[in-house]
Amino acid sequence: MAGDKPTVEERYRYLVERLREYNHHYYDLDSPLVDDATYDMLMRELIEIEQRHPGLKVADSPSERVGGFVSKAFSSVPHDPPMLSLSNVYDNNELMEFHNRCVKNLGSYDIQYNMELKYDGLAVEVVYEKGMMVQGSTRGNGHEGEDVTANLATIGSIPLKVTGNEAPEYLSVRGEVFMKISEFERLNAMREEKGEQPFANPRNAAAGSLRQIDPAVTEERDLAVVFYGRGTITGGEALSGQNELISTLAGMGFPVSEHTGNGTIQDVSDFYTGWLENRYTLDYDIDGIVIKVDSLSSQKKLGTTSKAPRWATSWKFPAKEAITVLNSVDYQVGRTGIVTPVANLTPINIGGVVVQRATLHNFSEVSRLGVTLGSRVKVIRAGDVIPKVVDVVGHDEHGGGPVAVPEQCPSCGTKLRREDVYLRCVNPSCEAKTLENLKFFVSKDGMDIEFFGPELIQRLYRKGTLKTIADFYRLTKDDLLAVERMGDRIGDKISESISERRRVPLSQFIKSLGIRNVGGHIARIIAGSVRTLERLFDISKDDLMEIHEVGPGVAASVHDFFHDDITVSMVREMLEAGVVVEREEGGAVAHKEIAGRTFVFTGALENFDRKRAQALVEQYGGRAALSVSKNTDYVVAGEASGSKLRKARDLGLRVLTEKEFIELVEHGKD
Ligand code: IVH
Repeated sequence: MAGDKPTVEERYRYLVERLREYNHHYYDLDSPLVDDATYDMLMRELIEIEQRHPGLKVADSPSERVGGFVSKAFSSVPHDPPMLSLSNVYDNNELMEFHNRCVKNLGSYDIQYNMELKYDGLAVEVVYEKGMMVQGSTRGNGHEGEDVTANLATIGSIPLKVTGNEAPEYLSVRGEVFMKISEFERLNAMREEKGEQPFANPRNAAAGSLRQIDPAVTEERDLAVVFYGRGTITGGEALSGQNELISTLAGMGFPVSEHTGNGTIQDVSDFYTGWLENRYTLDYDIDGIVIKVDSLSSQKKLGTTSKAPRWATSWKFPAKEAITVLNSVDYQVGRTGIVTPVANLTPINIGGVVVQRATLHNFSEVSRLGVTLGSRVKVIRAGDVIPKVVDVVGHDEHGGGPVAVPEQCPSCGTKLRREDVYLRCVNPSCEAKTLENLKFFVSKDGMDIEFFGPELIQRLYRKGTLKTIADFYRLTKDDLLAVERMGDRIGDKISESISERRRVPLSQFIKSLGIRNVGGHIARIIAGSVRTLERLFDISKDDLMEIHEVGPGVAASVHDFFHDDITVSMVREMLEAGVVVEREEGGAVAHKEIAGRTFVFTGALENFDRKRAQALVEQYGGRAALSVSKNTDYVVAGEASGSKLRKARDLGLRVLTEKEFIELVEHGKD
């Protein structure tokens, strides 16, 4: 019917046709039909539809085309001189061998070394002409990489223009793009909420984020970068050594490592030992240290092999992976009822920690890997996350049996339901599920009530005083003291912690309930729209779906939760026991100035902490991005704003002071 809104499929087909036509005119006929902005807009829409509905994607989609703005991401860039790799040493003896070779070739014992961290990311090169960024690329095979200029330009800390008045004619700098662990966790939590596959580690996440066809996707991921080297430089001051290079780069506005060292070969050992112990204090992964002969003239004298410089080497930390034997498999029931196979291993030391259990993710992963009992498996441990079995390297010669797939819940015996790659226990009163839900409720991701370890929860549950989350608010001091070994003081502390958390914002309350498909982000969105808890008891599925970002899965779980007799009376009991769910201020649709706009905060704010300001923007239906790009509407600049502010100015974006931001918030509310 005329005037009807096209379906997603129709819109998709329309976009494919239009973009093909535009490409043909642009690339083959050299006579563009539309301006770049219109083209970009349609291309973004196409990519967005393809991401949301992968089934619709046609094999020769214009989004895959090589050439022009979109595909430039994948054209090749030569590296001159090549981007070499590094040789490795694994212990002090090998380090001394490296040092002795340098001594011999330089004819001097007195060698000063520069020490750096070995960032676990991917190497990139960025080129500046007359001080302006003109190109950025990945390392690729060292001789040729991929053009990721548009994506690198979204990283706020990479200057688009170098600072200082005397920029070299031509400058190519090299460094490492990586993802902070906090950002990796945020990203994965979001992906899981949306039902997408999480990234295996921050390195993969960084690589995946940088090599995106659509730079807007890269921009949403907060990538970090440090620069530690150079390619070709023409013009500018002559440099004498690596340390001077780093400080010169810093002076030009490039991010460089905060943790470097300088000294003799003996100092190198101390630097290594120090970082081996302290690596987990960093919010990013490092896999060793890099040492470089400081003097550039000595570097020149030592030269390079075809693969690596002779003047540098890396000293890797012991691997965070190891091979061991899988002896048996347990089944663990999570709070949503999903049953996870967990491997019991022959204990093995991985990077200084003894590991004897590791997750096997799910049963389709078990069959994909071909794991059987007695297999020799590769186990990895990244930071403080749960160790995982990632590969099978050999099977038990005597033919260990297959890993059994349970049919019934190991905790309550209910028949398990297959859902996609998961097996799920759907019994609402399953003990294992209940215990996990209770643990989640008090955890940092939930209500953040202190002192409730898994052990205590289990004991209170067994005693019958803690059966549902409502019981947390009804526990008396006597209930607590009835638990073995519970002292008077700790009892008081627990009671205090519970009453401190009686008042809670709606978004945190929703999140803590552990409703299926509802994580922190969705909880905030829903709270920002419904504002009060009471509204959740009568909102319809259709009305829930009207909320931006709420799909049918989320709408169904929220609706069911607030219409199920058991869960509804549990929430009512909490309210009766004194929980006060605070009205969520703001609301997605109400704010004229913020809804639909993208904000970036930089520098120190006086009246908010950064997270609070970002939450405010989200509450009012805006987007709080982490880095500046041409899609940013407002940059709010606090004290000591650095490269983001510079970039905002370069791009001609609207920059607000904190006061102006507050005025904007107030102004648009009515
Ligand atoms: S120097 C010719 N310094 O390690 C000098 N590399 O295994 C080669 N890396 O491709 C690079 N941190 O991706 C250097 N502080 C650092 C580094 C570093 C990480 C990476 C880089 C390189 C790889 C070599």
